[in-house]
Amino acid sequence: CGIVGYIGHREAYPVIIKGLKRLEYRGYDSAGVVLYDGTDLKLSKTKGKVSDLEARAEKEISLNGSIGIGHTRWATHGVPNDVNSHPHVSNSGNLVIVHNGIIENYEPLKKELINRGYVFHSDTDTEVLVNLIEEVKKQDNLKLGKAVQVALNQVVGAYAIAVFDKERPNEIVAARLGSPLAIGVGKDEFFVASDASPFIEYTSNAIYLEDEEMAIIRLHKPLKIRKIKDDTLVDPYIQELQMNLEQIEKGGYDHFMLKEIYEQPSVIKDTYRGRLHANEGLIKMAGIEDNLQKFLNADRILIIACGTSWHAGLVAEYIFEEFARIPVEVEYASEFRYRNPIIRPTDVVIAISQSGETADTLAAIKLAKEQGAFVFGVCNVVGSSISRETHAGAYTHAGPEIGVASTKAFTTQITVLTLIALRLAQAKGTMNNSDFHRYLQELELIPEKVAEALETNLVAQTIAAVYKDAPNALYLGRGYNFPVALEGALKLKEISYIHAEGYPAAEMKHGPIALIDEHMPVFIIAPQQEHYDKIVSNIQEIKSRSGKIIAVVTKGDTQVKALADHVIEIPATSDALSPLLTTIPLQLLSYHIAVMRECNVDQPRNLAKSVTVE
Ligand code: G6P
Repeated sequence: CGIVGYIGHREAYPVIIKGLKRLEYRGYDSAGVVLYDGTDLKLSKTKGKVSDLEARAEKEISLNGSIGIGHTRWATHGVPNDVNSHPHVSNSGNLVIVHNGIIENYEPLKKELINRGYVFHSDTDTEVLVNLIEEVKKQDNLKLGKAVQVALNQVVGAYAIAVFDKERPNEIVAARLGSPLAIGVGKDEFFVASDASPFIEYTSNAIYLEDEEMAIIRLHKPLKIRKIKDDTLVDPYIQELQMNLEQIEKGGYDHFMLKEIYEQPSVIKDTYRGRLHANEGLIKMAGIEDNLQKFLNADRILIIACGTSWHAGLVAEYIFEEFARIPVEVEYASEFRYRNPIIRPTDVVIAISQSGETADTLAAIKLAKEQGAFVFGVCNVVGSSISRETHAGAYTHAGPEIGVASTKAFTTQITVLTLIALRLAQAKGTMNNSDFHRYLQELELIPEKVAEALETNLVAQTIAAVYKDAPNALYLGRGYNFPVALEGALKLKEISYIHAEGYPAAEMKHGPIALIDEHMPVFIIAPQQEHYDKIVSNIQEIKSRSGKIIAVVTKGDTQVKALADHVIEIPATSDALSPLLTTIPLQLLSYHIAVMRECNVDQPRNLAKSVTVE
């Protein structure tokens, strides 16, 4: 979910609506806003997107008021409908809240409040929290900040909240545990939001709340930050924002996803800039150098991640084992954390996360740390929870990724992980010098080659038109490109709702081959590399069963071309780096299919960019 709050001299409504739109990557199944104009609280909320809220609010309420809070939701408790949407109002009608996260012990709290006469209108845990704050406030005649604090100390779960009290109209109280919250500090105005994007055009001064901190934000008064547990005052640390407006706008593209696909040549370069020194034969990454011994002593590397980041982890498994000869296991963070995993002090854990906020990954990191492992983060969002929770790390520098289906995050994660594997291979002596130099040079050429791979856009569009109505699709790849097959299938299902499966090409004969007939498109990743002849055999097996073959091949290929219904040509590179190129046409294919099916590419149904619930 996403939160925006404003208090100051502007009209709050446009600030909040624009901000919520920027936060829709965090969820978009319902939205709401509350404004205060000095006399009345004006609330409007609805199932649907922020644009639906806009349409409704403009009819339903007067939009003036220089204080307000808003929310865009990804449903956890209660279906997405109008009533379950945020903000939620307390029984007295004085307190309003927006909340991102889950209150786990909401049932006993709700029972207790019902016993005391409280009435609930929604199924949400959030309505319980706002009434708990009200009850605490009333019982002990507390000010808002104190009441929020006392209530939060009774709560188990995760939250980022913003609360407003009609009786204290110059104040917003915000707090966080497990979900991010940033405060924008302007001149005589403040912003509260799940990330800094809603306020970058107003101020570049931001405070990121830490877990278990709350902020009492009052107009014309100094901002106060306190520890929720023990009430100690914390000095607010104001950071200068690095993000700019251009980065979070579409820049002429129809969709963020397409813009982000096209950014890959430049962001891959940003990712290796200052780290890859091909001419000197050097890789410099502070996070690795400072902890080199830990990596060199590692008996095993455990990679934990979710979704697309997990796929990047799978590619890394092949690369680490090949280059640095360290055994690697790749785990879904959610499975890892719930199954009493064996973690040894000689394990190095690498956590991969674009957002740095994924709840399961964060919890897995905490578990690994508790058991003595060294945890290294590969995150995109600077200052995110995971980047802070890990012992060390390397950022991917992909810039904000807004399309829900991850693209540039994937390729930059692979870039960082490749750099690490190469550095370790060098330090361990598991790769000879000439290969090492060759890889550095080849990696340096990747941005150009990605740009070349992007030239397949028109071909991808033509192929998309042929297969856009397919009910199913199969993706096959071998070796380094097996995870690319998984990622290709994930991209297609996420944004076009076509059922798709990724498989290792050789495993096809153990099951999926039964699905192949003239209606089944098979996307097969077949660059000229090791075991090329094996994949040619797989293609023949598909062809003899009348499957439709769409093959990603190396430029100049003739053998696969003779067999396939369609080919997409990408430049040649070394096997280990090929996922950075083969993935590009698959991203484009999914994009075009989704557009042709009139799906919402940037905000596919039921998904959220950043899943901050477990
Ligand atoms: C969500 C997103 C995916 C993403 C996954 C992991 O499911 O929709 O695109 O890959 O979370 O996110 P992370 O931010 O940890 O990489």
